[in-house]
Amino acid sequence: MIKEIVKTTLLNCSLENGDILKYKKQVQDIHLALPQFELTGWLETPNQIQDDLLNSIERVATEIRACADILVVIGVGGSFLGARAIQEALKPYFGLAEHGIEVVYVGLNMSGAYIKELLAYLDKKQVYVNVISKSGGTMEPALAFRVMRLYMEERYGEKATERIIVTTDAENGILKKIADQAGYRQFVIPSNVGGRYSVLTPVGLLPVAVAGVNIHELIAGAKQAAQELSASDLANNDAYKYAVMRHMLYEQGYSIELLASFEPGLNKFHEWWKQLFGESEGKEKKGLYPSTVNFSTDLHSIGQFIQDGSPIMFETLLHFHEIEGDLQVPFDSRNEDGLNYLSNRTFNEINTISKQGTALAHSEGGVPIIQLELPKLDEYHLGYLIYFFMKACAMSACLLEVNPFDQPGVEAYKSKMLELLKENK
Ligand code: PA5
Repeated sequence: MIKEIVKTTLLNCSLENGDILKYKKQVQDIHLALPQFELTGWLETPNQIQDDLLNSIERVATEIRACADILVVIGVGGSFLGARAIQEALKPYFGLAEHGIEVVYVGLNMSGAYIKELLAYLDKKQVYVNVISKSGGTMEPALAFRVMRLYMEERYGEKATERIIVTTDAENGILKKIADQAGYRQFVIPSNVGGRYSVLTPVGLLPVAVAGVNIHELIAGAKQAAQELSASDLANNDAYKYAVMRHMLYEQGYSIELLASFEPGLNKFHEWWKQLFGESEGKEKKGLYPSTVNFSTDLHSIGQFIQDGSPIMFETLLHFHEIEGDLQVPFDSRNEDGLNYLSNRTFNEINTISKQGTALAHSEGGVPIIQLELPKLDEYHLGYLIYFFMKACAMSACLLEVNPFDQPGVEAYKSKMLELLKENK
C-alpha cells in the first residue's frame, strides 16, 4: 500500500494525468535499466546499511561531542552539501541541537579569507576534523586538509591522529594512502556510490550525527522510500511522477525549475537539490536549470519576476505540513498596526496561507506549479525526501537521455585550473 509520504500534485498546468501516463512504458524501461548503470549503489544503501555501521558512526560522534567543541568538516560538492543540508534543516535556528556541537565546513571554496578566519575561530576551542573526499584528490578539500592537518599537529602533537577522521574510498586515492600511513580512523564511501548520491553513507551521516541528528530515523525514512519508490509503475510512484512532470514541462519550453520552500532552514537543502539535479542533468546542451527560492523572503526580491517576468520557469513548491515550533500572534489592545484580526492564528498557519496565496497568484501569472507535500519536517521525512529526489533525478536524467552519474563538465574546469596553476609556477 502506497502511503504517499511525498504527495506529488500539479496545481496549475496544461499537463493532464493522461499525458503523464503516456510515459508509463518509457519509465518502466528506464526503471529496469537503471541498476545496470555504474554508480547506482545508492539505490540499495538504505536497505543495506547495517546497524553496526550506524552504531559505529554514533560511537565516534559521541566521542567527538565529548572531546570537542567544534567539528571541522572538509569537503566539496557531494562530499559536504548533503550533510550541511540535513544539519541546517533540523537544527534550531539559534544555538545548537540538544546533544549536538558546532559543525563547520571548509574546503568548499578557495577563499584565503575564509580559511584564515576559520583558524582564528578555532583558537581556544577543542577541535576534531572529518575530511571527506571520494577521489581524495579534489583541490579545494585537499588544500584545506593540508592546512588543517598541520594545524592539528601543531596543537595536539601525536594526539592529532585521534582527532582526524577520514571518509574516503576503501582502496583508492591519495587520501586513503595518507590515512593508512598516518593511522587515521576511516569510514568508507562505497565505490558504487557517486558524490552527490552519497549523503546517506558515512559522508553525510557522521557530520549530522555529531550535530545531534538521529541517523537511525533518517535511514528509516530513506528505507521506507526505497521500498515504496521501487514500483516501476508510474501511476504508483510519486518520484517518477515528479520526474515526468518536470520533463514534460521542459519539453514544453520551460528552461528553469524553481524549487520553493517556506522554511528558512531548508536553504541549504535547496543547495543540495541544486547540485543533484544540475550535475546529473546539465549535459549535452540539455537540462532544466535548477534554481531555488525561499519564501516569503524571496517573494520580496524575485517574486516580481516569477509573477510577471519572462515565462521561462515553473515552480516546485515543497511543503511540510508540520513544523516543530510555532508562535501565536499576540493580541495587542492598542492595535495600532491593525493586526489584531490575526491574533487567533499562529505564524505557521499564516505561512501556510501565504503558500496557498503564492500558488494561486503564480498560477494566475501563468507559472506551472508542481507541489510536493510531506507530513512533517523531521529526520524520518527528510530521509524519505532525499531518497525521493535521488530516484526522481536519476529517472529524469534518463528521460533526457543523459548519464545521471557522471560530471564531465566539472572535470573540464579542474583540468584547466591545473594547467594554469602549473603554467604560472
Ligand atoms: O557528485 C560528485 O561526484 C561531485 O560533486 C563530488 O562529490 C565532488 O566533486 C567532490 O569530490 P570528492 O569527494 O572526490 O572530493
